[in-house]
Amino acid sequence: MSLTTLHAFKALETHFQDLKHAHMKDMFARDPQRATRYFLKVGDLSLDYSKNRIDDETLKLLRDLAEECALKRKIEAMFSGEKINTTEGRAVLHTALRKQTQEPVMLDGQDVMPKVREVLARMADFSDALRCGRWLGYTNQIITDVVNIGIGGSDLGALMVCKALKRYAHPRLNMYFVSNVDGIQIQSVLDKIHPETTLFIVASKTFSTQETLTNALSARAWFLAHAHDETHIAKHFVALSTNKQAVQAFGIDTNNMFEFWNWVGGRYSLWSAIGLSIMIYLGKENFYALLQGAFEMDQHFKNAPFEHNMPVILALLGIWYVNFFDAGSHLIAPYDQYLRYFPRFIQQLDMESNGKRTTLGGEVVDYDTGPIIWGDIGINSQHAFFQLLHQGTHLTPIDFIASLSKEGNLPGHHEILLSNVFAQAEAFMKGKDYKEAYTQLLEKGMPDTQARALAPHRVFSGNRPSNMLLLDAITPKSIGSLVALYEHKIFVQGAIWDINSFDQWGVELGKELAKDILTQLREGSAQNPHDSSTQHLINLYKTYNKGVLHAD
Ligand code: F6P
Repeated sequence: MSLTTLHAFKALETHFQDLKHAHMKDMFARDPQRATRYFLKVGDLSLDYSKNRIDDETLKLLRDLAEECALKRKIEAMFSGEKINTTEGRAVLHTALRKQTQEPVMLDGQDVMPKVREVLARMADFSDALRCGRWLGYTNQIITDVVNIGIGGSDLGALMVCKALKRYAHPRLNMYFVSNVDGIQIQSVLDKIHPETTLFIVASKTFSTQETLTNALSARAWFLAHAHDETHIAKHFVALSTNKQAVQAFGIDTNNMFEFWNWVGGRYSLWSAIGLSIMIYLGKENFYALLQGAFEMDQHFKNAPFEHNMPVILALLGIWYVNFFDAGSHLIAPYDQYLRYFPRFIQQLDMESNGKRTTLGGEVVDYDTGPIIWGDIGINSQHAFFQLLHQGTHLTPIDFIASLSKEGNLPGHHEILLSNVFAQAEAFMKGKDYKEAYTQLLEKGMPDTQARALAPHRVFSGNRPSNMLLLDAITPKSIGSLVALYEHKIFVQGAIWDINSFDQWGVELGKELAKDILTQLREGSAQNPHDSSTQHLINLYKTYNKGVLHAD
């Protein structure tokens, strides 16, 4: 049964016709309790969702939709290790990686928890040794620089957390992340570090990702040009992967490998061995606090009724805008410098998960699924692209994210940040009508004809929805909860859209074609005939570089 034929979906369609012209500012005027009724606090996170184009009926019908899509059963299926990633025949158990209680998590008749704890303990030993200076380089020098080489899920989560929690970082350690196969990135890192005091972490779930392996080989060559002896690699290269053979084949000792498993999706993997860079940089206690924060959100998600369930509410609001208001994108706007990589991380998490058009049953959907996720630091964005969000023609729901605590900020700065984020949400909700705009211009002393001409340009339609997510403070625990919140929001949406949020076949075609084109760019002959445009581009490149010796 398609989503659009469900009883609750049809009821929502009818309800949408009644509500689509209602203005939020009238809803606030009619209901003085709106802000407190549409507010939730879970652990260190507060969510004000009152500035959405909803009423109690909307929320009830959205919850009905979740029930009709068997959401409760689907949540249980994920937590209990059912192979819900059907196209890859895999369970989805990133929640096991942060589980703080003792019950087993069974998969194919085996409890996965002993292995999870064993790897976590090895990570802790290793990061302790490196942080306190017990793990030394091949010339017995202390490690001062750590370079994580990975891409996508093997980069973005760890990068985001390390940047968000920089305040907790070990003062001696410099942490670098290399993801781009454009050699400029790794070269600029290599220029700053020394082979005798650097640890390279090669992070790749499959250990077959071209960008990562190419960068790792360049790092290895750079290291050996100085160290000369391959036995020294063991002190300076570790691998994070599910693929032992490939790690071995690459030349990294499997004693220096931290394992994870195919039931951890790449974009859901920062809680696994992929988080080694986080643990090294922030210390094991802070890594455990990150896991604790995520675990608390897991418990909330699993147990709270939908009415008070933060991930479920955020997900349903998203469905409301995508499937009824035709919102094609969703903005993540953190008002905090520490969270500057958060939008990029959520972009992969959400778009690689829910950017799908085939249902679990193999049908092409007849409704929209995951929106385009985009975003940047909010306060900077106000002076860049918020214009379109205020007065443009598209409806773009926004998640504002900020920290309540001003501790650590410079005097006066945090109030400016928060006054702006609160003001933006208010402006998007309220807007400014013609009368207000016109009157304000007259009050400023503008002649009537000029005020009439200018007022239409000063009108803000308002009624533009946003969520306000406030962290008590930016701590390992609150960041853990925040990430888990989005993971579960995305899960709920995938469950309602009846798609597999845990595969990523859409990234494969480009990879296949690039392999063949690479052969052709490097002089060999192509396996597949290309279209005339692609062939023309290949020829252009080859002509341009004729005679240039490449050191491949
Ligand atoms: O190409 C997409 C992707 O497979 C992502 O899903 C993944 O996070 C990233 O590449 C990196 O993959 P790996 O960890 O296997 O190197």
